[in-house]
Parts: sequence; structure tokens; C-alpha cells
Amino acid sequence: MSFLAKNMASIPESQTMMVTNLARELVAAGEDIISMSTGEPDFDTVSIAAEAGIEAIRTGRTRYTSGDGTPELKQAIQAKFLRDNDLIYDLNQISVATGGKQVIYNALAATLNPGDEVIIPAPYWVSYPAMVAMCGGTPKLIHCHANNNFALDADALERAITSQTKWVLLNSPNNPSGAVMSADNLLAIAEVLRRHPHVHILTDDIYEHLLYKSEPFVTIAQVARDLYDRTLTVNGMSKGYAMTGWRIGYAGGRPDLIAAMAKIQSQTTGNPCTIAQYAAQQALLSNPEHIAYWRQVFIERRNILVNALDKINGIEVNIPQGAFYAFPNVEGLYGRQAEDGSIIQSASDVATYWLKAASVAVVPGEAFGCPGYVRMAYAIETDRVAEAMQRITTACGQLT
Ligand SMILES: Cc1ncc(COP(=O)(O)O)c(C=O)c1O
Repeated sequence: MSFLAKNMASIPESQTMMVTNLARELVAAGEDIISMSTGEPDFDTVSIAAEAGIEAIRTGRTRYTSGDGTPELKQAIQAKFLRDNDLIYDLNQISVATGGKQVIYNALAATLNPGDEVIIPAPYWVSYPAMVAMCGGTPKLIHCHANNNFALDADALERAITSQTKWVLLNSPNNPSGAVMSADNLLAIAEVLRRHPHVHILTDDIYEHLLYKSEPFVTIAQVARDLYDRTLTVNGMSKGYAMTGWRIGYAGGRPDLIAAMAKIQSQTTGNPCTIAQYAAQQALLSNPEHIAYWRQVFIERRNILVNALDKINGIEVNIPQGAFYAFPNVEGLYGRQAEDGSIIQSASDVATYWLKAASVAVVPGEAFGCPGYVRMAYAIETDRVAEAMQRITTACGQLT
């Protein structure tokens, strides 16, 4: 009998990390690899947070705190939810954890029983199905289509719901597609969910601030107030404040769920890093003024990337409206031959070919439940985006 738990076999290693690690190895070996595989902003941590972190160390804010966040940080999160999302949460409705990742894991671990189903629109963030499986649940995928801008179709959602459905996961702006859910799309989804009161909604809003449309960000509990009690609104410091390494994520939701999540956390990791909590508190209390500049930079990079992809025969791409990813369809390259005689047959082959022939690392769509696509992160310097696109254009032109 295996020493490892039965469900370990069904839990894949994170493919995004695998590509990132391979690219890092090649860089360490001296190759000029442009990595478009990493899911983090290349900007420095916003200075208000960085300064607060230093102050926290200097003033001895370095000890254990209450398990799921200090009251002061929870107050800052409360103010943020009100300011940015028009959502009111009491302090006992707020949970802070070591990254959005842990928040989501805690919520699933606190609620899933064997046989419970979790609806996940694909393409999805790699960790959702793995976390559902780790918590004993069953991921149920709904495929969202590029020609519908990867929107979750309300009828498809209706068909996927069963008596076993516990959660539906929403993520907008989306990793990996960069698609953004409109208020109308959210309202159509809410209409379906009203008919199924046993289904809860976990909305992962971690890319909230990285939005390139003129319409403001919307989240489901805000547009469908009657679903507020059934919604866990997840957010975090990683993407919008360039604080990936600080590891602070948080959520607002019903008090019994928040208490159960706190219980799990108290027995596993305990409080999130005290220094990072203080940094997050100070950052959240200020208006996110850096975002206007970031948006401008990300839009410029996105346009360079999309314009170049549009010119490559065999590639089709939607214009991403948020996050820092493009998710082109590369099926038009299938059947073409590289100089070494290999034939491209999958998105993984495309990613491998680009790594070898163009020294650019991207993540194949299989990792996100969407074969036929690759994810390209444009959170790298603007001239590197341009350089990467020149290399990819040349490499694709060499295929016969
Ligand atoms: C969609 C999505 N949700 C959550 C996370 C987790 O972020 P963190 O744990 O750094 O807060 C990520 C990170 O890549 C993500 O892309």
C-alpha cells in the first residue's frame, strides 16, 4: 500500500511553476531567456507597504497575532471593501491568510465533503481543481469559449449545477485569459444561482485593480445584493500592490464560514506574517494611486504583444481586458514542422518550440484546462515584451 494519501495521485505539480523553474534553470546556465510564464508584476512592492514593513520590524511588530489577522488589518480591509466594492463586512466576516491561495484552500477545506462538486469555469487558475481534489471534492469544469470572450455562459452554468454542487468559482479579471466579466454577465449568472440556493459563490477578485476597460470593476455580491450571504469575496495584496512574496490574502463572507476558516488556519499555519500584515494594513488604508501608472504601462505592453500576435499566421488572440496575461489560440500552428524535423501537435509543443527556437518561456493552455492555447504574461519590461515578440515572430516564420 502506498504511504501517500490516495488523492495525491490526482494532484498535479503546478505546471506554471514547472515552466518558470525550467526557464530559471536556462537563465542560470547563461541563456538569454525571456520569461513570459510568471504570474507576478515586475514592479517593486508599493513603497507605502515596503516602508511600513521596515517600520514593523524596527518597532517590534514581529510576534504572533490573532490567527486570522490583526483587528487593525481587518479594519483596513473593511474600509477597502467599502471604498472599492461598496460591500459592508463586519470584522467577524473578514479572514486574512498567507496569500489568496490559502484563503481559497481554507474555504474549500472548511466546506467540502466527499462527493461535493465545485464548478470551475475553464480556462481556470491552475490551483482551483487541485485544491478541490485535495479537499475531497470533485471539480466540474465548464468550458468557456474565446468567441464569447471566455464569459461563463448562464445556460451552461444551469446545466452543470446538481444537488451536489457546493460552490461555483468565479475569477475576473481572469488568469489565464485576461477576460473580464461584465456586470450583465454577472447578473445573468446571479439569475441562475437564485434558482439554486444551495450553491455558494467564491469570487476570486485578486486582479481587481489590473483592469484596462473604461467600466469600473464589479464583483457579484455588489451587483446581486441578495447573493451577499452566499458569496465569499476573495482578494489579496499580491497582484495589485506587487506584494507576491509578502503573502497576504483576505476574504469577506458569512461569519460561520469565516470562523471555520480561522479554525483550520489556527491548526495549520497560524497567523500570516505579522510584518506583512502591518504593511498590508498601511497600503490598504491609502488610495491605490500607483495603479493609474501601472495600467498605462500594462496597456502599452499588451498592445505590443497583441499587435505582434495578430500578424502571425496561425495565431488568434482576444484583446485581454485585465490582469497581465494574453491567451492566444495556437492551433493554427499545428501540423507545421520545425527545423529539427519535429511537427507541432499541441500547445505544449508550441511552448517547447518557442523556448528552444525563440528563448521565450510561456505556459501551455493544458495547465489551465484549455488545450490549444498558451498563456503569455506581459509583466516584464516593455522592451523585453517587444524583443520576445520579435523572436516569436521570427521563430514562427521559420516553421514550414
Ligand atoms: C487567479 C489567482 N488567484 C489567486 C492567486 C493567489 O495569489 P496569492 O496567494 O499570491 O495571493 C493567484 C496567483 O497567481 C491567481 O492568479
